[in-house]
Amino acid sequence: MANINRRDLLKFLSASGAVLSSQGLLLGSLSSCSSYKLPKILGVKPQFTDDLVLASGLNYQKIISYGDQITDDLIFGTCNDYIAIEEINNDELIMWVNHEYFKENLIGTQKRTLANIDKERSLVGGSIIKVKRSQGKWNYIKNDPVTKAIRGNTKIPFAGGVSIKGSKIAEGTLSNCAGGKTPWGSFLTCEENYHFSYGETDFKTKKHKASFLGWEKFYNNPPEHYGWVVEIEAKTGKAKKHTSIGRYAHECSTYAEAKNGKAIIYSGDDKNDEHVYKFISNSKNSIEKGILYVANLEKGEWLPLDLELSPVLKKTFKDQLEVLTYTREASKVLGATPLDRPEDIEIHPKTGEVFISLTNNKPKNRYHGQILKISEQGSDHGSLRFKSETFAFGGEDGGFSSPDNMAFDKNGNLWVATDISGRSIGSEVYKKFGNNGLFLIPTSGPQAGEVIQIASAPVEAELTGICFSPDQRTLFLSVQHPGENTKDLKNPTSHWPDGGVPKSSVIAISGETLTKITG
Ligand code: FEO
Ligand code: CA
Ligand code: CA
Ligand code: CA
Repeated sequence: MANINRRDLLKFLSASGAVLSSQGLLLGSLSSCSSYKLPKILGVKPQFTDDLVLASGLNYQKIISYGDQITDDLIFGTCNDYIAIEEINNDELIMWVNHEYFKENLIGTQKRTLANIDKERSLVGGSIIKVKRSQGKWNYIKNDPVTKAIRGNTKIPFAGGVSIKGSKIAEGTLSNCAGGKTPWGSFLTCEENYHFSYGETDFKTKKHKASFLGWEKFYNNPPEHYGWVVEIEAKTGKAKKHTSIGRYAHECSTYAEAKNGKAIIYSGDDKNDEHVYKFISNSKNSIEKGILYVANLEKGEWLPLDLELSPVLKKTFKDQLEVLTYTREASKVLGATPLDRPEDIEIHPKTGEVFISLTNNKPKNRYHGQILKISEQGSDHGSLRFKSETFAFGGEDGGFSSPDNMAFDKNGNLWVATDISGRSIGSEVYKKFGNNGLFLIPTSGPQAGEVIQIASAPVEAELTGICFSPDQRTLFLSVQHPGENTKDLKNPTSHWPDGGVPKSSVIAISGETLTKITG
């Protein structure tokens, strides 16, 4: 079902007997959730307002913004993205927040000087902060002992003593987009568009391709040290880079458990015509060793990116580390299915089905994306066979465009945030959708299967990092890159959140409407 246009899909659906509703959803594929029935929710309309506009019965408060002191010596980084929490108790949480990238105009680093690149390196990666709820309001605790900054200049070892380009230690983590959370108390953060910082090595010619940011002119770090999944212990901030899950533009690393208890990680490569991956660990409480697979959707098979299990790889790759370092190239050898920029992946909490957002593929004139659903054979995440179908289409009928970050609440309602790029918002093809938004797809009640817009983002912003508090009374959200096209800070394109210069921020959404949905 990959790379299929809407007309083809309708043909496929009528042949397969599936039903496409006016909202573009496969209603037959929604799970039913026994006694829980979501009451009617009123959404917001698409709009271009420079504010975070919420559906009625919801309100938000800002928790932290770019530049806020998290200790006396450290500030909160730029462009906050993925959010994950480790619960201390209902009202006290260790929170991980990714800092994906930056806009030079917004942080004052336009010139390529050592001082500016040092500044940039110190502002990407991620932060660990403590957040605490008191009298219904969440605050971060400055100088709390858990506070850590894992950034673009932090030395991070490769797991298992692996050495890459002569070093067992990488300098920094960067391009941290989405991530994951393990049940053994660690956060996973994913290095996505790593080539922007140190460039890339061409696999065939072994020549270096220059980066956009030019960091390699000041720090000669090999591109092969980036593009991995980084695991960080919540309580200590101890970090390691895993080579086991491969190297590519990792969007996310979503944990699941196989029937035999082994750890599974799903991940997508957010680039046009790249792939979806599944890692099956050898162990129940570690992701250091195991086998990485790539999806072939036509055959419904997970193909092993392993020299012994797929000996054809031996013609191209000298050892297993090379297979994992050039995962994209190895996937092509095995015949993996090209997809329209795989972004976030979430597991339905009741059915175990795997939902994958495919954001768009503009060179192929597929502008609005879709949400793909994979059902593993025997409902076992450890299975090597699966079925796939489209769960929801982006587009005018679908009511949203360019799905990216997702989350399920405990009732199985799907939350989807969109990522129409800052430069495309309001352009002809995207005009009807207004600014980026947050959408709810209920799985029960009178609106089951509808796409309801819950929030509209400020100008040029994207809503990311959807994360529920343990009691699901709060939805933490990153408002990322408001006013990202600002050229002159005296005249920014957005004034969110404080009326001055735009700042990416983490917010907490709550209110009776959220309680109705997640209650
Ligand atoms: Fe950083 Fe694929 O979004
Ligand atoms: Ca993303
Ligand atoms: Ca998610
Ligand atoms: Ca994106």
